[in-house]
Amino acid sequence: MSFLFVAGSLFLFNTIELSVAGQGSTPKIKEIVLGRCYEYQLNTIGPKADNWKDCNEIWEAFHKAFAHKKPCEPKSSDYKPFFEATGMQELSKSLFWSGTYKVAHVYSDSGDRYTTLEDTLAGYLVNGLTWCGKKTDPPSSDGIDYDSCPDRSVCDYTTPFWGLASETFARHARGIARVLLNGSRVDSNGKPTPYRRDSFFAKYELPNLQVDKVSELMIIVAHTRSIPTGCDTDSIGMLKKDAKKRNIKKVTCYDDPNDVRHILCTDTPLSRKCLFLHSDPSMYPRLR
Ligand SMILES: *[C@@H]1O[C@H](CO)[C@@H](O)[C@H](O)[C@H]1NC(C)=O
Repeated sequence: MSFLFVAGSLFLFNTIELSVAGQGSTPKIKEIVLGRCYEYQLNTIGPKADNWKDCNEIWEAFHKAFAHKKPCEPKSSDYKPFFEATGMQELSKSLFWSGTYKVAHVYSDSGDRYTTLEDTLAGYLVNGLTWCGKKTDPPSSDGIDYDSCPDRSVCDYTTPFWGLASETFARHARGIARVLLNGSRVDSNGKPTPYRRDSFFAKYELPNLQVDKVSELMIIVAHTRSIPTGCDTDSIGMLKKDAKKRNIKKVTCYDDPNDVRHILCTDTPLSRKCLFLHSDPSMYPRLR
């Protein structure tokens, strides 16, 4: 049974890997990035603001970092001009996340409630896109490989960008920094691991929080299924220790606080963990 399962998942894994390796850069990436750049500024500062950033300059800085290069060649320093061109404001409502992509972005409400990396201009422009370069002789027209990007086993070509993006984001956090972790994640032994030392949060964000400007690290553990006791786990204990080592003044932890719980319960309002929603039956006449 378990052998079949392993063999089956190996097969599946190979198929997925092949299809991932087959995936090249997002078609029309230039048009998408430029369009997002104008749209973002329209929505955040409005059409009449005089501090619009130059979207062509931003695209050029981004393109130059990886285009006409071998796909594994760009280093995070190559993306520096891009982050200089996009700039970043100080973030008084920063929201870090790990293993909670979907919930974190509903929670942040596109930057209205909190700000995730993907709600900043730099993150927004390329969120969900794939890109890698191509070095050919003679050079191809735009130096971007639309046919395939390297397999993870060849190189991790996305981390030079997203690592620097995460670092930059963390350096701009002020006041309370929130991190939304996944309390339903477990390791291979079934132990809860909402916090992982190999996560982007642990590797690029926590080490770059400015301890004199961050008053509190607020850990929020979201639970998809289990009874919420994430804050008591060894994993969160380790995060608290790591935060202390970094001299972060105050660290707090909350399991499924009500605002997060309401979001989690929008899809499963009748599940056991969502019964709290029905404490006032007059609100739900049909459930009586
Ligand atoms: C936690 O991770 C599991 C497995 O990856 C996922 O199905 C679930 O949606 C995640 N929960 C939250 C709150 O993001």
